Amino acid sequence: MSRYPAVRLRRTRSSDWSRRLHAETVLTPADLIWPLFVTDGAGVEEPIASLPGVSRWSLDGIAARAREARALGIPCVALFPNTPRALRTDDGREALNPDNLICRAVRAIKDAAPGLGVLTDVALDPYTSHGHDGLLDAAGYVVNDATADMLVRQSLVQAAAGADVIAPSDMMDGRVGLIRDALEDGGHHNVQIMAYAAKYASAFYGPFRDAVGSSGLLKGDKKTYQMDAANAEEALREVALDLAEGADSVMVKPGLPYLDIVRRVKERFEVPVFAYQVSGEYAMIEAAVAAGAADRDAMVLETLMAFKRAGCSGVLTYHAAHAARLMGG
Ligand code: PBG
Repeated sequence: MSRYPAVRLRRTRSSDWSRRLHAETVLTPADLIWPLFVTDGAGVEEPIASLPGVSRWSLDGIAARAREARALGIPCVALFPNTPRALRTDDGREALNPDNLICRAVRAIKDAAPGLGVLTDVALDPYTSHGHDGLLDAAGYVVNDATADMLVRQSLVQAAAGADVIAPSDMMDGRVGLIRDALEDGGHHNVQIMAYAAKYASAFYGPFRDAVGSSGLLKGDKKTYQMDAANAEEALREVALDLAEGADSVMVKPGLPYLDIVRRVKERFEVPVFAYQVSGEYAMIEAAVAAGAADRDAMVLETLMAFKRAGCSGVLTYHAAHAARLMGG
């Protein structure tokens, strides 16, 4: 037997060069997707109180953020609209308007920063007067199939505007297959689908709903379509279905509280998995920083590394530009 202690795991940690050499996971700006909030007007920046450091931008500001993302090496941005109140209806039909805020933003980004990936969210909540992701029946239940029909049309409108990735975040059953078929029929063979496959009914979405202006409108909760935090097997079934229906990649959302789901999805399916570090997670970090309880830079990089270590191909995060700068992007 060798002398105690034969193995000293601290040996490889004892200097910076060695720690870098032994790092099992790398984080680069190419791992990031930057969510951006779009608002009407020109020259407008509206700070979002519950998301300190994040603003809604009019198209000129969105174009500037897109150029910034490209310069930082961030491969893709995700767009969310704050639809003017007057355009929100029961059926969310503004989602189908080829000149809505999102379609105009996609075109502005394609002009300003060609080569930058653009992901658009498919769901009706930024367009409905009741704040739900789909159409309601008389009892206030979100109906599946009629909603899926709207989502297909919304996807085609976004693809026609130039979106590279369609990301259905609505959790209706069967919509990925319907959207894939419609994209193929429409000649959009290379438009990807990143399915919000395992999206939980979460308390972490509050600031996002402020950002898209739906929090004051939302009646009830989203538990009849988004998943129960108690369930993991069900997440695997959701992922299996979305992949069978043609999803190119899948997402788990929220992020940090659901890393067990990320790991199980990655091990089971061996496909590209993304996580959304959502608005409430961002707000928690910023609140801790504001309280003097945390070092922002270290916390941002550590949480993003944790996503990569768990098996993520990439992360949607409101800290994307800041993180890319920290990485020297
Ligand atoms: C809407 C949507 C939500 C988020 C992304 N797309 C909110 C919700 O489902 O209520 C949340 C993102 C975040 O909190 O950062 N379908």
